[in-house]
Amino acid sequence: MFVLICRKMYLTLIVLLLSTPSIIFASGKQIAMKIVEEPTNYGFNTGGFNNQEEVKTLHMRISPSNFSGPQHLRQLLGHCFTKIIDSYKYEFCPYSNITQHEQSLRWNPYSGVLGVWQEWDIVNNTFVAMVMSEGDSCGSVHRTTKVYLQCGNTNQVVNVSEPKTCNYKLVFTTPLVCHPHSILVYPTLNKTLQQEWNLIEGRLQAEEITQKGYDKLLQHLFEKAGYRVPAAAKEKMIQLAKKKEQDLRPQSFETLFQCQSEYNKLKEQVEALRTVLQVNGIHDTTQDKKEHSDGLDDDTPHSFNHMDYEWMHGHRDY
Ligand SMILES: *[C@@H]1O[C@H](CO)[C@@H](O)[C@H](O)[C@H]1NC(C)=O
Ligand SMILES: *[C@@H]1O[C@H](CO)[C@@H](O)[C@H](O)[C@H]1NC(C)=O
Ligand SMILES: *[C@@H]1O[C@H](CO)[C@@H](O)[C@H](O)[C@H]1NC(C)=O
Ligand SMILES: *[C@@H]1O[C@H](CO)[C@@H](O)[C@H](O)[C@H]1NC(C)=O
Ligand SMILES: *[C@@H]1O[C@H](CO)[C@@H](O)[C@H](O)[C@H]1NC(C)=O
Repeated sequence: MFVLICRKMYLTLIVLLLSTPSIIFASGKQIAMKIVEEPTNYGFNTGGFNNQEEVKTLHMRISPSNFSGPQHLRQLLGHCFTKIIDSYKYEFCPYSNITQHEQSLRWNPYSGVLGVWQEWDIVNNTFVAMVMSEGDSCGSVHRTTKVYLQCGNTNQVVNVSEPKTCNYKLVFTTPLVCHPHSILVYPTLNKTLQQEWNLIEGRLQAEEITQKGYDKLLQHLFEKAGYRVPAAAKEKMIQLAKKKEQDLRPQSFETLFQCQSEYNKLKEQVEALRTVLQVNGIHDTTQDKKEHSDGLDDDTPHSFNHMDYEWMHGHRDY
């Protein structure tokens, strides 16, 4: 988190540098020139000192898969279902995403994406769970949720648990799965794929293939039907997401130390520029702008020190 704050301060400095009048020596004449007026976030989506909204902006790192599975579940498309459990609000949007929002008055409660709709878990010819993966990062992995469908009178999230760190299990009840045949896979397949399944079944009966070989052939069939995402496609999508994330952070700092040292370097440049301006008798207009003076006023400490930010204590790390 401190790295984020330091980044923000670094960016503020860049803005300051750019908005400092550049001096162009042309034919002995000094021309003061303003280059940048408005601060921008330079593509960083890091949140800042006083911008809670920015921190809470959630996004799906991959696109959800298309709708697939039993056609009668299509009526769940475009709806979202919320449930509050233990001071967290969960929002499940079938065929789209799952998010979690901490219900807290802290300055920056946790919000995150717990998964993006990908594919079906199929067991024994039955659509068992919706797999929502590639949520927000959680150490070296990304959050994943499996949504188990159970028969119930109303469409609602009844429970969310976290059997393994960052692996969530959500139970959703709906009248749409109450008929015993309503979530069988075979009846949803077209004639071609049903015949293919018949052949695979026959080969298992005739012991031409092992159970393992049978499972593999069925997996492939489910991929053709669009119920599972092929491993290669998954890998491609994840690489694309990683690349996109890197592109968004052209100069992200790995550590607070690295950021701080870059910050100090930049600060020296700003000071040097001020000296040049003073020596040349040019009024430094950036000194007039209070919103640009973070950390650089003479009455504030000249080095970034996270102990200054007592109000941040208790905030969980990103
Ligand atoms: C989750 O899906 C819903 C419904 O499609 C959508 O409105 C919402 O913006 C999505 N959330 C995120 C974080 O993209
Ligand atoms: C999803 O559906 C759209 C429109 O029908 C189609 O163009 C696209 O190829 C589909 N995506 C996948 C991964 O099947
Ligand atoms: C598979 O499903 C059939 C009927 O759909 C059921 O009779 C059988 O017990 C199930 N087998 C397992 C291992 O769940
Ligand atoms: C919800 O899940 C938790 C953890 O698995 C379990 O202890 C609890 O009994 C469940 N509650 C309901 C209402 O199913
Ligand atoms: C059945 O689905 C498969 C996979 O989507 C497709 O290649 C095939 O053409 C379809 N067959 C019929 C008869 O629609």
